[in-house]
Amino acid sequence: MTLKDAYKDKFYIGTALNAWQLMGNKPSEMHIAQSQFNSIVAENVMKSGRIQAKEGEFNFELADKFVEFGEQNNMHIHGHTLIWHSQAPRWFFTDQQGNLVSKEVLTERMKTHIFTVVGRYKGRIDSWDVVNEAIEDDGSYRNSKFYQILGEDFIKLAFKFAHQADPDAELYYNDYSMAIPSKRNGVVKMVKKLKDEGIPIHGIGMQGHIGLNHPDIKEFDKSLEAYSQLGKVMITELELSVLPSPWGDAGAELSDTYTYEDKMNPFPNGLPEDVQRQFTQRYVEFFKLFLKHSDHISRVALWGINDGNSWKNNWPVRGRTDYPLLFDRDNQAKPVVKELIELV
Ligand code: XIL
Repeated sequence: MTLKDAYKDKFYIGTALNAWQLMGNKPSEMHIAQSQFNSIVAENVMKSGRIQAKEGEFNFELADKFVEFGEQNNMHIHGHTLIWHSQAPRWFFTDQQGNLVSKEVLTERMKTHIFTVVGRYKGRIDSWDVVNEAIEDDGSYRNSKFYQILGEDFIKLAFKFAHQADPDAELYYNDYSMAIPSKRNGVVKMVKKLKDEGIPIHGIGMQGHIGLNHPDIKEFDKSLEAYSQLGKVMITELELSVLPSPWGDAGAELSDTYTYEDKMNPFPNGLPEDVQRQFTQRYVEFFKLFLKHSDHISRVALWGINDGNSWKNNWPVRGRTDYPLLFDRDNQAKPVVKELIELV
């Protein structure tokens, strides 16, 4: 039994693919993608800074490989991401003197980018993260360059352009910390407003960058409930960090005898059994919650295949050893995989 077979009547089980895998350097990881998952998303290669690093010069080499891999394996294909303030090229927002461009110019650039990217994969990419991370944790709009130039209208424009470019694609708003009540309220308010105005938005993506002690699963439940009223929900970018965060809200409870540095990278040589058990238990609790809401959840996607791939080894602190995914550095399924399969 595999993950995708176990969950086939519930929701898609996805994984992110990175550039190195798409370039053909990691056949064993691609084999796991094929055998365990039925949905894929590109971890970086479809971001605007990669696709259009220079204005008008589009590079689709790895994005094409990504889509072809999904098609060859009959997978659901998710596009990440069209409009995001991060990993966007600087030229997008500025003129040759380095000043912010006008509303008209930014609108035109958004339109060209979205039409070119979504248009190229029309009918082939099933769903898109159209706008990523536009709301702050307190529920207000993020003061990104998109916002500074266009105000909240940039969000409407992005969804309209994406819908024009591929009327059949499902369009999502995606963000992190989506279980924080103030953020939940902000997102709900924004999405309601968009829907009232007839903007084509089909669902909400809750990034799942979770830790052993955050977020509060009850709040996550409430958010699933609230977002489900507005459309479909995706659990995106799921991984479970076992490391403490510099902000003090995540990671294993660690004894006071560790030094500060030990605390920041306490398991360089492997995960102690008690932490491994906590890890399994926490994934199981979250998947129970996803199953409870499965009527509204279209997809649950892991942010990478094995622990060695995870961006969590370098974020928010560089050079750590984290163990957040379902397969270990030797591509062996962790005990949690069997538990998740048996849950359904
Ligand atoms: C991350 C990637 O995993 C890293 O490889 C990259 O260096 C930075 O971006 N929110 C998102 C993702 O929507 O695109 C981010 O991915 C993680 C946070």
